[in-house]
Amino acid sequence: MNTTAEEQGDLPTLDELRGRVADARARPSYGHDALIACDQLVRIFATDDVEVQALQGLDLTVTAGDLVALVGASGSGKSTLLQILAGLDVPTAGRASVAGCDLLGMGAKERLRYRREVVGFVWQQTARNLMPFLNARQNVLLPMQLRDRSVRASRRDRADRAAELLDLLQVGHCAERRPAQMSGGEQQRVAIAVALANSPSVVLADEPTGELDSDTSHLIFEAFRTVNRELGATVVIVTHDLMVAGEVRRTVAIRDGRAAAEVLRELTTDEHGQESVVSREYATLDRAGRLQLPREFLDALGMEQRVEVTLEPDHLGVWPEHPEPAAD
Ligand SMILES: Nc1ncnc2c1ncn2[C@@H]1O[C@H](COP(=O)(O)OP(=O)(O)OP(=O)(O)O)[C@@H](O)[C@H]1O
Ligand SMILES: [Mg+2]
Repeated sequence: MNTTAEEQGDLPTLDELRGRVADARARPSYGHDALIACDQLVRIFATDDVEVQALQGLDLTVTAGDLVALVGASGSGKSTLLQILAGLDVPTAGRASVAGCDLLGMGAKERLRYRREVVGFVWQQTARNLMPFLNARQNVLLPMQLRDRSVRASRRDRADRAAELLDLLQVGHCAERRPAQMSGGEQQRVAIAVALANSPSVVLADEPTGELDSDTSHLIFEAFRTVNRELGATVVIVTHDLMVAGEVRRTVAIRDGRAAAEVLRELTTDEHGQESVVSREYATLDRAGRLQLPREFLDALGMEQRVEVTLEPDHLGVWPEHPEPAAD
């Protein structure tokens, strides 16, 4: 095949190609600067003769200090993801790391330390979060007492931290009460204090307001925002509540075991000093370049199976397939 000199001129030289390969190798790996990095995460539950793919190659990164809400339909894989991040379950395939800990490669001892020190967890069921026979103060002290002796704080420091956390979460008045003597909202705020006791890198919460009314839910979210702001804790919360999801900076929608879309909200100030929240919706582009388009957009233009994608200087165009020219 003959190629013109012009075409040949367009082809990169061998040295240029070598340079590109070297550049690609030198590029930092996916999620290298993220606190949480999930890469093509897969979790398959196999029971008798049925197989459920709860996570189907989920990619997600969370930066340190972020406050993220995960939303999605029932069965979309939210709890599965959270259980993996909490070190309570192991993915079938893919990679996941939190604060430098490889969630697939951890041994039993490391996993136990991970669950005690690297992550804090708040469950939906208020009763599951606290020891019923201990008061709030003793509940917050417990994870600190369970730490390895070599890293355990002094008795005095532990007591101070428990009191500070209860005060920060505005449940100082519950310090001497057992869970049965507190309201649901108070119990969840104490549960957040327990989750924070060992200053974990990440606090995870699965529907923490699921059993509470909307006013109390609002207070719980306020509590998460407080620990995020005041203590710099990274927080990931699963919620069904769209109102609540609207209160955080970043919302990630999980669909069919994958991260499908995100809403980012930013506080902006106009020229009159007026502050307002601007939210932008994004579709998630996975590592392989796959994009899930909103169903309603596809339906509106009757797009299915095939679309034409064109490269424009600053965006891509996605067009419905051209109808086949009618045969004579
Ligand atoms: N231990 C298990 N054994 C078998 N299937 C499971 C198991 N845990 C979850 N699944 C299945 O995996 C899928 C995802 O479940 P998951 O609990 O992660 O959903 P979710 O998004 O948290 O839903 P919800 O909003 O109802 O809590 C579902 O189809 C569920 O039936
Ligand atoms: Mg769930």
